[in-house]
Amino acid sequence: MDKILIEGGRRLEGTVTVSGAKNASLPILAAAFLSKEPSVIKNVPQVADVFTMVKILKSLGARVQHSGNTVEIDPSGARNPVLPYKLVSTMRGSICFLGPLLARFGMAEVSFPGGCVIGPRPIDLHIKGIKSLGAEVRLDHGNIVAKARRLRGARIYLGGAFGSSVLGTANVLMAATLARGRTVIDNAACEPEVVDLGNFLKKMGARIEGLGSPSIEVEGVKRLNGAAYSVIPDRIEAGTYVIASAMTKGDVTLKNINLNMLGAVLDKLKDAGVLITEKNGHARVRRRKVLRPVSVTTLPYPGFPTDLQAQMMALMCIVPGISVITEKIYPERFMHVSELNRMGASIMLEGHSAIVSGLKKLSGAPVMASDLRASAALVLAGLVAEGRTEVSRVYHLDRGYENLVAKLQNLGAKIKREKEVR
Ligand code: EPU
Repeated sequence: MDKILIEGGRRLEGTVTVSGAKNASLPILAAAFLSKEPSVIKNVPQVADVFTMVKILKSLGARVQHSGNTVEIDPSGARNPVLPYKLVSTMRGSICFLGPLLARFGMAEVSFPGGCVIGPRPIDLHIKGIKSLGAEVRLDHGNIVAKARRLRGARIYLGGAFGSSVLGTANVLMAATLARGRTVIDNAACEPEVVDLGNFLKKMGARIEGLGSPSIEVEGVKRLNGAAYSVIPDRIEAGTYVIASAMTKGDVTLKNINLNMLGAVLDKLKDAGVLITEKNGHARVRRRKVLRPVSVTTLPYPGFPTDLQAQMMALMCIVPGISVITEKIYPERFMHVSELNRMGASIMLEGHSAIVSGLKKLSGAPVMASDLRASAALVLAGLVAEGRTEVSRVYHLDRGYENLVAKLQNLGAKIKREKEVR
């Protein structure tokens, strides 16, 4: 297992290119399965979750060529609608095969995904959605077995206790493209990754309206064609580098960024005193000398994303004053709190909120990553901490950040990756 070593105190300067969005790539790769023709997906980040996705596509019988940031999928010979536990357990996002397998084969057997360190992650909305489209669903020895001769369009309300569901919407949207008749998904997720999936499906010949709104309408078609598509930039990776620049009093320019997808984040950062200017499609990040604490509540898009909550908390740890960070998507997503406190931060948990008393500095320490975004927050904290920080269990970061260490090195950070000796 590898670890990341950081000597804190370097100011980040220079240019970084944002990779393609992991959370758009995963459902888009699954959606390619809806056609019997080949598709070519570009700007796919080289991260562990994508490698897992490619393994799954191959295990289902598709021919896949993966080279750099391009994945070519030929699903014509695929026969297997069964997705085994071994693969599902390594990546919860693989649930997004449920809709495509069901629509393509009239049946799907996908292992029920287990819990996860960021809290319970139910899939009742996915199941409600495909049942509404006419599928029979049963649980069999830990597998979800879904069957439908031909799915039929329906009006589906897809909201749960914590609002809309990103992959739930993706699953129903994908299945509905091949259903007979019209489907309306109410309380659909508005996240840019769902819009990107929808745009890919439209390129495949799907008839979809209302993408990006809480009501998506789909008119089913008999078949979809293959398509070439380029994935949107990763707004969460972009936000992570914006926060890294702000934390290190840096001057970083981000290429391949779409600021429109970061509205709530930029608004909070502006209130804190971070200045972001756009020129020729690039964003330059600078900051005021003294930042102000800001309070943040995570919400479904266009609200502040849960996937940047931990990174924002790392920033607030070094802004003198009190900020309150409330998690409304995954109320238990606070595994980073105790690790940040080990680095000298002062954070108290109060229900679903973290009360951060910002201090002038953090101190480097060995810390343990618990999930992807928590790990990113620990790296950010390490960049400004006094002395050396060791972040272990780096595989979490590998799941979602392409070349994190090299990108930060290019910006001047003193950071390296090493084999962990046990
Ligand atoms: N929920 C239900 N029932 C369901 C599905 C979800 O109650 O059937 C709840 C969840 O427990 C949660 C809320 O609804 O409280 C939102 O969950 P959602 O379904 O939107 O999450 P997801 O689709 O499983 C995606 C991203 C996550 C990101 C969330 C929220 C992918 C592969 N994953 O997960 O990304 O946090 O949306 O934006 O797209 C990450 O990249 O680090 C990550 C965890």
